[in-house]
Amino acid sequence: MAPPCSAAVVAVVVAVMLPLVLQASVGAGSADCRFPAVFNFGDSNSDTGGLSATFGAAPPPNGRTFFGMPVGRYCDGRLVIDFIAENLGIPYLSAYLNSIGSNFTQGANFATAGSSIRRQNTSLFLSGFSPISLDVQSWEFEQFINRSQFVYNNKGGIYRQLLPKSEYFSQALYTFDIGQNDITTGFFMNMTPEQVIAYIPDLMERLTTIIQNIYGLGGRYFWIHNTGPIGCLRYAMSHRPDLAVVKDGAGCSVAYNKVAQLFNQRLKEAVASLRKTRPDAAFTYVDVYSAKYKLISEAKKLGFDDPQLPCCGDDNVGCGGKAEVNGTWVVGKSCDNPLRRVSWDGVHLTEAANRFVFDQIVAGKLSDPPVPLRQACQTGRGR
Ligand SMILES: *[C@@H]1O[C@H](CO)[C@@H](O)[C@H](O)[C@H]1NC(C)=O
Ligand SMILES: *[C@@H]1O[C@H](CO)[C@@H](O)[C@H](O)[C@H]1NC(C)=O
Ligand SMILES: *[C@@H]1O[C@H](CO)[C@@H](O)[C@H](O)[C@H]1NC(C)=O
Ligand SMILES: *[C@@H]1O[C@H](CO)[C@@H](O)[C@H](O)[C@H]1NC(C)=O
Repeated sequence: MAPPCSAAVVAVVVAVMLPLVLQASVGAGSADCRFPAVFNFGDSNSDTGGLSATFGAAPPPNGRTFFGMPVGRYCDGRLVIDFIAENLGIPYLSAYLNSIGSNFTQGANFATAGSSIRRQNTSLFLSGFSPISLDVQSWEFEQFINRSQFVYNNKGGIYRQLLPKSEYFSQALYTFDIGQNDITTGFFMNMTPEQVIAYIPDLMERLTTIIQNIYGLGGRYFWIHNTGPIGCLRYAMSHRPDLAVVKDGAGCSVAYNKVAQLFNQRLKEAVASLRKTRPDAAFTYVDVYSAKYKLISEAKKLGFDDPQLPCCGDDNVGCGGKAEVNGTWVVGKSCDNPLRRVSWDGVHLTEAANRFVFDQIVAGKLSDPPVPLRQACQTGRGR
């Protein structure tokens, strides 16, 4: 699938970067990595404007808590990827697909809402799942490296303040949060848990291939989120009431969460084998499932309201949407205090929830290996 010229370009990029990679890992120890950039891949859990730039903007009241206006996120405020950027001292990531006002000096975000690892045999207009699957995101990234370097070197001027330096591609942190939509598409097409479980190996193979491609393009530091407790989300349960009959103590669908946990087990193994075959790179598996599940199961104790109850919209109308119900138009409004809510819109978490999740993962206690975010460049050789 790679265009014919890419091999030569890759060779140049890798050659330029090699000395810098070595330098970075020699000094690893327990010092901070000082990642100069972040490149992110994923779905709506980390979309900072990709789908909005392309298929219509996320409507108000998205963005109300922090940005004061919709900013391409399906959330009242910041996402975990925003807290990651803040922690690393990097500006919030511009979406690669957003051509207006973007600044890619310290990274780019290829994630779009509705994305999955596998290509979907349907259209966004039919199913709501994005055509920008992980393989498409990786082609975008390939274009991004190539074209950003061409423009940086040949056009100069303002572009040097909008595009990354070539060495950033080997020094950057590559972050992933994808898989939720691969699981839900199967369930939404009325598959049994066994049928969904049957394609998990295929998902792992594809994800592994994409990460290897990014390694081939110079990436060395990978931060990979597992998938969340999908069975605790209102939209998942309302699509498959039959799977919501058996619930656990936190009110979550046991069947959904079993599949999510199995996905995560396989993902952890896939990341471990990448680590084995690429000892000069650092791969961190991050258990966001446990962080989200802790929040949902201990919501009351942690000062939150009913964790399943969406703050914005309801079963009749989506957040910021309009729908005719029994002859009258209703609007998907926000609740008064999103700070006390876990669920923003029945699909996505609130900023308050995202902050909780970030606080759980930043120091490395839910990671394999247990390295803090800022030290996620430590390679197998250094450990
Ligand atoms: C990379 O950029 C060059 C121009 O610098 C172009 O000729 C080539 O086709 C591009 N390759 C890819 C993979 O886009
Ligand atoms: C799409 O269809 C192809 C060919 O039938 C199949 O191999 C693939 O698994 C399908 N993908 C999904 C996501 O269902
Ligand atoms: C883009 O962001 C970088 C910091 O990441 C900043 O130094 C640069 O000035 C910004 N570019 C423009 C044109 O504002
Ligand atoms: C709409 O009307 C039906 C029949 O009268 C009723 O059962 C249902 O609860 C109504 N829905 C809403 C959202 O008011």
